[in-house]
Amino acid sequence: MAAREKTIRSKYGRPGEKVKVLITRDRIHRRILEIAKQIRGDFPEEPLLLVGVLKGAVFFLSDLARGIPGEVSLDFIAVSSYGKDTKTSGQVRLTKDLDASIEGRTVIVVEDILDTGMTLQYLLRIFEQRKPKRLRVAVLLDKPERRIAAVQADYVGFSIPNEFVVGFGLDYAERYRNLQGVGVLSLKAQDKAGKS
Ligand code: IMP
Ligand code: MG
Repeated sequence: MAAREKTIRSKYGRPGEKVKVLITRDRIHRRILEIAKQIRGDFPEEPLLLVGVLKGAVFFLSDLARGIPGEVSLDFIAVSSYGKDTKTSGQVRLTKDLDASIEGRTVIVVEDILDTGMTLQYLLRIFEQRKPKRLRVAVLLDKPERRIAAVQADYVGFSIPNEFVVGFGLDYAERYRNLQGVGVLSLKAQDKAGKS
């Protein structure tokens, strides 16, 4: 099991792409349950609205929601992201809005990874204008070294080094989201050169 988990086989990826496991599925699940308990502990009486940022946050959100006892509702938002490359364009655009109003509600924004912070800064600005009762942020992963915008998450699964990671919802060119753990993706030099 341990040996099998070290490098993820090519069935998930393509030639020239290699993924090395960084965080196993079991560690992720344990940590998400801890965060779920912590969130309910912080808001013992309140109905919670979890807002997932599509698509990367879906697996984190689904485990988190099931770990929080009591009243929990879900909504989703989508923003334009990295596209096919591993570098951010720095531009954030809303591509799908929430279905319902968040006014007066206790909202937890659930995101896969906090990188430069541009995405969350943009979302938090929009959400604050809509007058929620409380607004919190939960991220599965945090890459503090890469931060540009002054954004902090209230709940962080794992702080990770400045590497491009895939799995547990995180993608490279829309692939690898279905990996059960999180791994570091490396590309052969020729593949990197082909990207802009
Ligand atoms: P930020 O706006 O730079 O904080 O980036 C947030 C978004 O970029 C995340 O929601 C991800 O979709 C994407 N992203 C950032 N780092 C990674 C990574 O290492 N792997 C995959 N996607 C990433
Ligand atoms: Mg994302």
